[in-house]
Amino acid sequence: MGGKDYARFAELSFDDFRRLAHDEALSPYERIGFPDDYREGFERAIFEDIRRKLPALDGSGSVVVDIGPGCSELPQMLRTHCEERDHHLVFVDSSEMLDHHADGPGLRKVPGRFPDVAAELGEERGTAAAVLAYSVIQYVFEDGSVFGFLDAALELLAPGGALLIGDLPNASMRSRYFASDAGQARHKEFAQDDSPPPVSFNAIQRGRMDDAVVLSLVARARAAGFHAWIVPQDPSLPMANRREDLLVVRP
Ligand SMILES: C[S@@+](CC[C@H](N)C(=O)[O-])C[C@H]1O[C@@H](n2cnc3c(N)ncnc32)[C@H](O)[C@@H]1O
Repeated sequence: MGGKDYARFAELSFDDFRRLAHDEALSPYERIGFPDDYREGFERAIFEDIRRKLPALDGSGSVVVDIGPGCSELPQMLRTHCEERDHHLVFVDSSEMLDHHADGPGLRKVPGRFPDVAAELGEERGTAAAVLAYSVIQYVFEDGSVFGFLDAALELLAPGGALLIGDLPNASMRSRYFASDAGQARHKEFAQDDSPPPVSFNAIQRGRMDDAVVLSLVARARAAGFHAWIVPQDPSLPMANRREDLLVVRP
């Protein structure tokens, strides 16, 4: 797949995702903004990585919230896992994305953009053992407040509960990777030419999250009384060399 195809899925807004959700010409991965080769065959490994970071998923009878579940196999895996363990699962996404998920016991669907719809999660506030927002907050960074998003997600957590804001594309991490020997070799293989890898230091990168943004989310959560860490993705995941996860636990 050429660079143009990847560019089709760059810089999507919440409304762009609403449009993609109902586009019958797209694969399930493309509907959530990924070229197939970023996700096809990888979602089980992604789910297992999430499970390791949110151990409450393996308990039973808890409240679990997925903000921005999308409509590929990943939310389906979460749903099946939650059904088997009697969790109360909440999906928050556009009605177009939620249309892909059949109604059923154990699943509550809250249509709309988070945190605009946070008031509708009054029942879940302070009760969630696990909150997940995987590959979502980068789209909030474009046209909303990542701090508003984080604060509202923190408010959902029960004592001991954990929030995973996962799959953060970090432009600084990406540049560090592509500046390395391994990154340069990978770029050469991908581009199939001798063009320089995309390394950018000391430059304004509009719309892209970087170390400053990612680490400020840690600081924000800690200042609000939560434990917070940036944690690596399992190396088998497709973007582990330039993406990382924010894990927050309510003490
Ligand atoms: C890249 S997809 C990720 C889907 C899923 N979490 C996954 O990793 O397979 C981003 C999803 O987040 C949703 N989304 C984006 N901004 C959102 C917001 N502010 N509130 C709720 N959902 C949002 C989009 O509609 C889309 O379904």
